[in-house]
Amino acid sequence: MFDHVRTALLNGFFPFARVCCATCDNRLMIADTDITSGPARPTLVLGVTGCIAAYKACELVRALVKQDVRVKVVMTQAATRFVGPVTFRTLSDEPVTTSLWDDPGSSAVHHVSLAEEADVMLIAPCTANVMAKLASGRADDILSTTALATEATIILAPAMNTHMWRHTATRANLETLRSRGVIVVEPDAGELACGDVGEGRLAALERILEVTQAELSRSRDLVGVRALVTAGPTLEPLDPVRFLGNRSTGKQGYAVAEELGRRGARVVLVSGPTSLPDPFGVTTIRVNTALEMQAAANTVYGDADVVVSVAAVSDFRPEHVAGDKIKKDDAPEALVLVRNPDILAEFGADKGERFLVGFAAETVDTLEHARQKLVAKNLDLVVANDVSEPGAGFGHDTNRVVFVTHEGDEHLSSMTKGEVARRIADKISARTRKTL
Ligand code: CTP
Repeated sequence: MFDHVRTALLNGFFPFARVCCATCDNRLMIADTDITSGPARPTLVLGVTGCIAAYKACELVRALVKQDVRVKVVMTQAATRFVGPVTFRTLSDEPVTTSLWDDPGSSAVHHVSLAEEADVMLIAPCTANVMAKLASGRADDILSTTALATEATIILAPAMNTHMWRHTATRANLETLRSRGVIVVEPDAGELACGDVGEGRLAALERILEVTQAELSRSRDLVGVRALVTAGPTLEPLDPVRFLGNRSTGKQGYAVAEELGRRGARVVLVSGPTSLPDPFGVTTIRVNTALEMQAAANTVYGDADVVVSVAAVSDFRPEHVAGDKIKKDDAPEALVLVRNPDILAEFGADKGERFLVGFAAETVDTLEHARQKLVAKNLDLVVANDVSEPGAGFGHDTNRVVFVTHEGDEHLSSMTKGEVARRIADKISARTRKTL
């Protein structure tokens, strides 16, 4: 288990490993990296916008380069009024891009190649205008286009006048961006360049660097891990038009699959019917029923290091499925149901060294039920949530969960499903390192 991660570690490629080995074919792995030639550096795309604090971005570049990070600077036209591209070019020893029409020196489409190269994208300083553009999904210059095209985590370090920072429009943009998983390093309060005193100064560089380093570590920390994720509901047919099902939308499971994939894991997602698109960089297998989910999951389980079972699997299915639509006059008095297999419990019975994560969606005695499931299904972590709470569970974008483990309970605050996925991935990452 985790053998190729172990190899990578022993070779000193962690935490910034861009490791490729015979058994890893995830799209995020850099196929042309020769692991015998030494560790590759992580790539940070640094967006600089038109703000007086742009000069502080020079210090960020210096510090990051010293930490062996490859920094590719992208500037808005306004930013070039404050600091010249030559300064960033000299500090980073990399070409600096200031326009969609710069010649990248190859056939690559520039904003796409930058977006793909990024392990993390940091925009510092980020003006109110650029925040607004990102929130509305506009792409009219190299920076906003790269931000829209990248799958990497985006960090913003806003800097602006206090009134602009407090404006309802800016607050709304901030919320929108946060809900999409953008990380915001909040500005500090103090004297501003315009003479006002208040919030809006670019955050201390140490704080920006700390957050950036943490995200760079996260961006590759699951390379070599093979994960199986189940998500969505299962629908159990009664006849060709009717089924038994539940309210799961699949959002939490898809967020987990996407997060694990972004961090380098090779992920297979087995999903019941949802309206969500396949997550990027993840192999998705679509199924309808619990039996189909079990069959698909079983084909992947043997090779999996980690299972995250988020699916709301129907515990029962109709014993008899009618071939034609049941007419109401012919309907039976009662439906006869049979038990579906408990997919996760079966995995738990054949656990080996795998890390197994289950969910417990409850409406009463949540923690008690979660602890029972932890033991009964032989799991390492149960993510418990009370789905009757406002803003938690089925259909919502947020969740309030408790991590229940053999070591104890960890209550998390209400957060987006993307953030819950990050926390689960952190647990998997911690375990991966412990196993080594
Ligand atoms: N699970 C599964 N197969 C099933 C039922 C549940 O794999 N047939 C998994 C779920 O994906 C989840 C965990 O087991 O990770 C707990 O599911 P949940 O529906 O909360 O509980 P059940 O085990 O079905 O028990 P109960 O319905 O009595 O709460």
